[in-house]
Amino acid sequence: MTDDVSRLLAADLVDDADLAVEGTLRPRTLAEYIGQREVKANLAVLLAAARGREEAADHILLYGPPGLGKTTLATIVARELGVNIRYTSGPAVERAGDLAAVLTALDERDVLFIDEIHRLNRAVEEILYPAMEDYALDVMIGKGPSARSLRLSLKPFTVVGATTRAGRISSPLRDRFGATYRLDFYGEDELMAIVQRSARILGVEVEPGAAHAIARRGRGTPRIVNRLLKRVRDHAQVHGDGRVDETTATEAMRAMEIDDEGLDSTDRKLLAAIVQKFASGPVGVQALAAVLAEEVETIEDVYEPFLLRLGFIDRTPQGRIATDAARQHLARLGFEIPPPRRAEPEMVGLWGDPAIGPG
Ligand code: ADE
Repeated sequence: MTDDVSRLLAADLVDDADLAVEGTLRPRTLAEYIGQREVKANLAVLLAAARGREEAADHILLYGPPGLGKTTLATIVARELGVNIRYTSGPAVERAGDLAAVLTALDERDVLFIDEIHRLNRAVEEILYPAMEDYALDVMIGKGPSARSLRLSLKPFTVVGATTRAGRISSPLRDRFGATYRLDFYGEDELMAIVQRSARILGVEVEPGAAHAIARRGRGTPRIVNRLLKRVRDHAQVHGDGRVDETTATEAMRAMEIDDEGLDSTDRKLLAAIVQKFASGPVGVQALAAVLAEEVETIEDVYEPFLLRLGFIDRTPQGRIATDAARQHLARLGFEIPPPRRAEPEMVGLWGDPAIGPG
């Protein structure tokens, strides 16, 4: 099988190396899942109702920044329904026939997980509409004037779609989801509980101060705290006795160039670019992407959401601006901070003359 096809038909996470690393730490039931309380409560009702009626669950759309648990929740949905799950993604399904092959292979009430669903192409999306709405597959037979459409029926199934932004999905596709849930960044307490759970599974002793230090730098994201935990564990094993205390954890994260707010070198480069090259903005995301040699989509989906949440950047109609908090953070780290181009009330205390400032 080509890589594409095996990815398309991957029966479980073990086929995907990226996901396999995370695999053992993923919660397997809603009860084990920490955080996203409202999503969990709504999902529990939806799943119990579908089970009670002995029907396929309604199609579910999950959206939110990467690493917050969309794939995990899809896997839990299937498990709680007692059905199989097939994993695929928008870019992996190139032709309508690819999707038709996956759909016809589903068993009754199975879950089809489509990651990055906003990247499905138009022809494939059009196969999905009748499939989701009527469990029907419309196939064209023949070409030209004698072409006819033939409708085949599919077994009832559930699509769980995932995307980093709901706004990217075409409205006909969005309309076919019976339930849409937004995943939000996790709180520090929740991340700390995740670190402690993961540490138990990995069999590593982590002191509460260390769990807190990791959670604090985890950018609100379970995937990141789990990754940090593994690297901190390595550090403790090589430089200490294997136990993770707060000093070991902070040292390890410093060695990884993760700062006290959890920013990595790319985050800092992005902030420094706005502050130093564009006088703190406003700057368009295209210009920023060019300076950083990153994709616009990566900046928008991976880096910006957490920087926005930290209050380090703001989006304005004119473009992105770096806030006073961002400038102070960079200044503490020794970056040179030129004065911002724009006049901003919050800047008065730092660079302006308080006597002529507002208020
Ligand atoms: N591991 C990764 N995400 C998790 C979550 N939300 N709850 C528990 N463990 C996790």
